[in-house]
Amino acid sequence: MPTGNSSLIENLEDLRKEVFSALQGAGDLRALEEVRVRYLGKKGAIKSLQKGLGSLTPEERPKVGAQVNQLHDEVESALESKRDALESSALEERLKKEQIDISLPGREDRPGTPHPVSILIDEISTIFARMGYDIYAHREIETDYYNFEALNFPADHPARDMQDTFFVGEGLLLRSHTSNAQIHYMEHQKPPFKMITPGRCYRCDTQDATHLPLFHQVEGLVVAKDISMAHLKWTLETFLRELFGPKTEIRMRPSFFPFTEPSAEVDVWFEGKDGEGKWLEMLGAGLVDPNVLLACQIDPEEWSGFAFGVGVERLAMVRYGIKDIRMFYENDVRVLRQFEGQRQSWRR
Ligand code: DAH
Repeated sequence: MPTGNSSLIENLEDLRKEVFSALQGAGDLRALEEVRVRYLGKKGAIKSLQKGLGSLTPEERPKVGAQVNQLHDEVESALESKRDALESSALEERLKKEQIDISLPGREDRPGTPHPVSILIDEISTIFARMGYDIYAHREIETDYYNFEALNFPADHPARDMQDTFFVGEGLLLRSHTSNAQIHYMEHQKPPFKMITPGRCYRCDTQDATHLPLFHQVEGLVVAKDISMAHLKWTLETFLRELFGPKTEIRMRPSFFPFTEPSAEVDVWFEGKDGEGKWLEMLGAGLVDPNVLLACQIDPEEWSGFAFGVGVERLAMVRYGIKDIRMFYENDVRVLRQFEGQRQSWRR
């Protein structure tokens, strides 16, 4: 440490310049801390000056001492205000950085997609609503009377075997077809009328590629004067052409259902890619059996009607080329996402 009053004072001046330029150059809090340690730390330049005051003469000591102390205080307060400044600019910087970055691409917004079965039910409803049909819904938990008896299945009729369902106690069962809604509708409506009734049905079937214990049907019922098989055929042809295209060909084969007489099964011709086509069975239909009308207090001498029932999953399988009915209900998004963008038409 230099001795002698004037050189010490000069050194002090140099030191002051040095400290202040170091302070100015400190760009962040860490650099500032380094400056503090270098000059004010235990082994720092100013601290060692203070310690060295003891070696001065008693005359020099108070004067030089006062100057060193003054420098010490100046540096200390300059350090403090520099620290404040750096802290607030660091905060500002952070606030700026942590703002939401609107240039980041957002997370994809995936609206749900209507289920293929819903799409089809809506389409069928739209087609029939345009032809003036009521869209009607009724219960899935049913009594034997509405599911079988009133539809002309007497208690021991073998046709019941085809529709084994779930019996849930107290004479109740899960409806095995939507035909039950025919009876409910006719109990409250006076003919003439036209209605379809879509909904869930249940059967005690073992699952496989074409059977599930829960599935959907759309039932149709028309009662008016002089209804014939010709009305039925025209209606089904019109419906199936709307659904599968204007060139669609259908055929009707004789069949049996307790609630229709005569009864028919309706097939649709599908052209394969290889040029080979085939008839696919699509629905059951027929003229309403007089016993069914009678059960609903409708006079079969005055009124006649036709009815039909179609499996919605079956239609959807043909329409969308789905080979296994279980795919509809496995909730595999790879299947369901294919229907993205399809809107339920009658809600438009
Ligand atoms: N209910 C029948 C079934 O589930 C389908 C059916 C056939 C309904 C003929 C009808 C009909 O209305 O006339 O197998």
